[in-house]
Amino acid sequence: MTDKLIIFDTTLRDGEQSPGASMTRDEKLRIARQLERLKVDVIEAGFAASSNGDFEAVQAIANAIKDCTVCSLSRANDRDISRAAEALKGARSARIHTFIATSALHMEKKLRMSPEQVLEQARLSVRFARNLVADVEFSPEDGFRSDVDYLCRVLEAVIDEGATTINVPDTVGYAVPELYGNFIRTLRERIPNSDKVIWSVHCHNDLGMAVANSLAGVKIGGARQVECTINGLGERAGNCSLEEIVMAVRTRKDYFNLDMNIEPLHILAASRMVSQTTGFVVQPNKAVVGANAFAHASGIHQDGMLKARETYEIMRAEDVGWSASKIVLGKLSGRNAFKQRLQDLGVQSESEADINSLFAKFKELADRKSEIFDEDILALVSDESVTHDKEQYGFVSLSQHSETGERPQASVVFTVEGKEVRGESDGNGPVDATLKAIESHVNSGAEMVLYSVNAISGSTESQGEVTVRLQNSGRVVNGVGADPDIVVASAKAYLSALNKLQSKADRVAAQG
Ligand code: KIV
Ligand code: ZN
Repeated sequence: MTDKLIIFDTTLRDGEQSPGASMTRDEKLRIARQLERLKVDVIEAGFAASSNGDFEAVQAIANAIKDCTVCSLSRANDRDISRAAEALKGARSARIHTFIATSALHMEKKLRMSPEQVLEQARLSVRFARNLVADVEFSPEDGFRSDVDYLCRVLEAVIDEGATTINVPDTVGYAVPELYGNFIRTLRERIPNSDKVIWSVHCHNDLGMAVANSLAGVKIGGARQVECTINGLGERAGNCSLEEIVMAVRTRKDYFNLDMNIEPLHILAASRMVSQTTGFVVQPNKAVVGANAFAHASGIHQDGMLKARETYEIMRAEDVGWSASKIVLGKLSGRNAFKQRLQDLGVQSESEADINSLFAKFKELADRKSEIFDEDILALVSDESVTHDKEQYGFVSLSQHSETGERPQASVVFTVEGKEVRGESDGNGPVDATLKAIESHVNSGAEMVLYSVNAISGSTESQGEVTVRLQNSGRVVNGVGADPDIVVASAKAYLSALNKLQSKADRVAAQG
């Protein structure tokens, strides 16, 4: 007899809380479609009460996604819970996830509430949420550092009020596997009504143990839901990584004996989509989705692999989507083939006008680059926002001159609210001159805290993908731009970051 393990993806909520990882509604919708294709059970689509943008994103995902439960986070108060319910109205299967901190430290210093007040608020919030939806998850924030006797009282009370899932967060990534597993087991053993709910684990990666802790919560503690994010995206060192937990449970079925709905073939595409959308590059030695995850460089390994691949390979690269990355289209491909490929990649929401514009850009790219990969197409889609009319700034063209011994010069034409302007500057290098040329006109005053270039598909023929992280008045955003010319990619990334700085004004950060 096997049990089922529920995969709860929170890339679009906890993942998005990573500095600079904020996504637009359309970006979130695209990722949600990929998560549906991956067959995650629950998509935490956002925190509806935190901003109008997040509300709209949760609403759009609730209306579009049919095969997963769609969930919104909410603090434990009636206003947040009502907003979440409102955003989720169109969902075929909706969940409200409400939380309040239960550790002595958080209650005293952050909430300034007594334990009895917190218990009462938790109880009333779950009761209120249950009147709006049938599926209610409750999280005691900083649960792992909470007093176990007190936590048992809180959880017993919210289960009595009808909570259907209890999630135990290690909010600050302090746990170690054995202790976390035992903690979940103790809660389940001591709470009299614990068998009425699904138990869930939610681990942060501050000590690099989020996946190990989650697995211990499942194996030792008996949890049957894991909260995780694609590429382990998330605040600070991130969350438990979906691809790692899924492949661990699948590869070691002999040990875990659990079934999942997940379709691993779509893992790599999901990883790339999240990395291209957020600008968080995947490290090459990252398990499962890193560029080196299945590369065997040493002669001994290669020899073994040729004789029998199981000598050094415990999973097959193609099972998680590696061989699916192929040359898909070229210069002669038509609009229908292009549209079909967009759909295959989960990009279904674009209007006909958007598809025409993307197709024109695809043709331009195919003229400059003979082989077009899935990653190139996804980069075009991400890039579309930089040249989109509704954005404040849009890239038009640039010229730059650099020569050994001379100071580089750049001139950039871009749009500001649809009107073309030109900025000019010199700089230490061509990229520096280009970004200064933009800044000479915009005067954003933003500080650049990260600049990185990555080759999308390996070789120098590849498009360069640039990430620029800007910080201004306490806000941090990532802009991403792609182009075969990395100076152009840099200009696009910079403009994309400026657009995000503009649109991120009123967001309330979620906790944890
Ligand atoms: O880490 C955390 O405590 C959270 C909760 C809001 C579930 O993300
Ligand atoms: Zn969290």
